[in-house]
Amino acid sequence: MNNNPIGIYDSGFGGLSVWRELYRALPNESLVYLGDGKNCPYGSQSADRILYYACQSVERLLAKGCKMIVVACNTATAVAIKHLREKYPAVPFVGLEPAVKPACLTTRSGIVGVVATERSLQGEKFLNTLARYGEGVEVIKVVGRGFVEAVESNSEFEPQTESLVKQTIEPIIAAGADVIVLGCTHYPFLREVIDKVIGDRVVRVIDSGEAVEKRVESLLDEFDMRANPDNEAQYEFLTFADEAYAERLRRKAFDE
Ligand code: DGL
Repeated sequence: MNNNPIGIYDSGFGGLSVWRELYRALPNESLVYLGDGKNCPYGSQSADRILYYACQSVERLLAKGCKMIVVACNTATAVAIKHLREKYPAVPFVGLEPAVKPACLTTRSGIVGVVATERSLQGEKFLNTLARYGEGVEVIKVVGRGFVEAVESNSEFEPQTESLVKQTIEPIIAAGADVIVLGCTHYPFLREVIDKVIGDRVVRVIDSGEAVEKRVESLLDEFDMRANPDNEAQYEFLTFADEAYAERLRRKAFDE
């Protein structure tokens, strides 16, 4: 048993899509969320910069006594997870990776779309998974340009966001994809807009939230780290931006 918090880290608001899953499924686990905010978006920055941000974020979460860290950012995972695991061998880490495996295994048309950031689409683990499961499947890789910015500025439902989403998603559907993978934790916040673009066409949208929650649970068991069933969970929101940003994180997390 361990009542220390689970740390969750992202470049900004995106990891809250993972936070929500943990909050729902693990009501007695305390959660410390760190949304960088100051250096967001990470997507097209250099690997060195992203590695630096990830290390400084993990240090901050460990200083809060986190027993486990979820790198709730596909981009930071692609760049930094190997390094983080080596640097902190005693800390269990959970990383995020675009869900290409279930997509490739379930597509009927044999065409899959993956929308993610530039860095994530270049990630070694992602490319390995693709090579392993993508045989015979056409995988269309697209950068969700402007998606992160739309979520960060709370403009998910603005008309310009809708047209941005349409410009990105429509060609993937037109090419025959029946599964679209959201390979960035910010994108689930655009789900309603994406669904609107899809309309009544049969296209499945997959993100990694649920799978990550399951992985967290299995690691909690493996390391015998679950909080006491009667633990009163605490929720904290940290950032490298300002107080107002931290407050926005809290409000988005609780859907206020
Ligand atoms: N939410 C992130 C991801 O999953 C990072 C997006 C960004 O900062 O560009 O990739």
